[in-house]
Amino acid sequence: MSERERTFVMVKPDGVKRGLIGEIVSRFEERGLKLVAGKFIEIPRDLAEEHYGEHEDKPFFEGLVDFITSGPVFAMVWEGGDATRQVRHMVGETDPAESPAGTIRGDLGLDLGRNVIHASDHEDPGSNEREIELFFDEAELIDYERPDEALLYE
Ligand code: CDP
Ligand code: MG
Repeated sequence: MSERERTFVMVKPDGVKRGLIGEIVSRFEERGLKLVAGKFIEIPRDLAEEHYGEHEDKPFFEGLVDFITSGPVFAMVWEGGDATRQVRHMVGETDPAESPAGTIRGDLGLDLGRNVIHASDHEDPGSNEREIELFFDEAELIDYERPDEALLYE
């Protein structure tokens, strides 16, 4: 059985303003992942720069930080088997135009710079823990049982 883990997900300002929080949360709930934390915030610029620090030398960095701080985001932590990799499969490719139908970006977006959602990168081990710590205090992560866990996992 795959390892249970926690992963960081965020509906970006375009997704929030387009009214897509519910649609996106539903997809993870229905898949069987468990919501363990969530908050609706405007990201301070220094936090945005730290969160996207790996991209600080890229030409799109300033625009990305401008955009992610341009309105509210809905930050979440989801838990489940192989969660980081499974969530990225559900999110699709970075560019919505390259994302298959059925994925969040492939169904809900059109443009690279307006791709609706952030999720921790399964190809960057530890990014999930790092991002969770950046956005949430330990006390904000809530432990509870989903009664259907016995049906979701063998
Ligand atoms: O979000 P993801 O991990 O799929 O992609 P990334 O390569 O880590 O890039 C972070 C974000 O920067 C993307 O989600 C895009 O919003 C933005 N980006 C961009 O605006 N232009 C690019 N050429 C690449 C990324
Ligand atoms: Mg990334």
